Amino acid sequence: MYPLEYIQPVFRPPSEWKSLILQVTNGCSWNRCTFCDMYTEEDKKFRPKKIELISKELQQIKKSGLPVNRIFLADGDAMMLPFKRLKEILELIRDVFPNNIRVSSYCLPRNLTNKTVEQLKELKDLGLKILYVGCESGDDEVLKLIDKGETYQSSLTALVNIKQAGLKSSVMILNGLGGPKLSKQHAINSAKLMNEGQPDYLSTLVVSFPLGEERFAANFKGDFRQLTQPELFNEMEILLSHLELDKTIFRSDHASNYLVLKGTLGQDKAALLAKVRQALNTPSSITLRQEWQRGL
Ligand SMILES: C[S@@+](CC[C@H](N)C(=O)[O-])C[C@H]1O[C@@H](n2cnc3c(N)ncnc32)[C@H](O)[C@@H]1O
Ligand code: SF4
Repeated sequence: MYPLEYIQPVFRPPSEWKSLILQVTNGCSWNRCTFCDMYTEEDKKFRPKKIELISKELQQIKKSGLPVNRIFLADGDAMMLPFKRLKEILELIRDVFPNNIRVSSYCLPRNLTNKTVEQLKELKDLGLKILYVGCESGDDEVLKLIDKGETYQSSLTALVNIKQAGLKSSVMILNGLGGPKLSKQHAINSAKLMNEGQPDYLSTLVVSFPLGEERFAANFKGDFRQLTQPELFNEMEILLSHLELDKTIFRSDHASNYLVLKGTLGQDKAALLAKVRQALNTPSSITLRQEWQRGL
């Protein structure tokens, strides 16, 4: 929709479908999570974009006259940029579009370790409103096996700092990430992390391997296989039943999911659990996404 030249592929959270995607960096500076093939192509080597080019692109969009209400800073971890550069980018956005643009970005927990809560507040005042945090799991054993470079504690610290700065957090947890052996502890510790962090949004995706699972399975030394549908529902049942959230919008509607779940937690916990148990006990009585309807 917006006439910019992107280095493809470009990924964004499903809820940012209306946003202007502003590629302030290319790729992901970490690029080691064993489940993630999103930025492994040669063209996607990590590189911050020059500020002059970002400014030019913003002017180009302004000139096009297309409406801009939301901007998503791409690619995979734009928040790795230092505070000074992020501030510069947000000031540029504000100068070109002075009408209160809502800015968002993906954010690894460690992207925040070199930024104070005061600095995050400053970024919030300049328009940054929501950070999408790929926690993936709250279980340290799983986090190590997937080479996320994060722990339960580092993820929690980031969620707490985001909240303290008045920013919103949207967390992703991956269903099936520990295989059958670690399924239970993955679900319980992910719920525990969410209970302590109380994110504003929580979404679950089913871990999928469009390019094959060899790279992912290697660290498990023979102990990994993808969960079957009932095993995925069972893991979801454990996760949901351990979640004690005050007011979190919960979505399990990403294209990778077989069972679509949406609600607000805690108020909808019983209804969501009933739906998962129905999928588990009488799958023929419920609409499930077919394999061909799924994707990443
Ligand atoms: C484009 S990535 C960027 C996330 C950000 N770099 C982070 O780690 O917080 C967005 C999310 O897509 C999801 N994702 C990536 N690869 C996936 C896979 N193979 N299966 C399911 N979800 C995947 C993960 O939840 C990941 O956090
Ligand atoms: S999940 Fe995030 S941090 Fe990990 S490789 Fe993918 S984009 Fe990078």
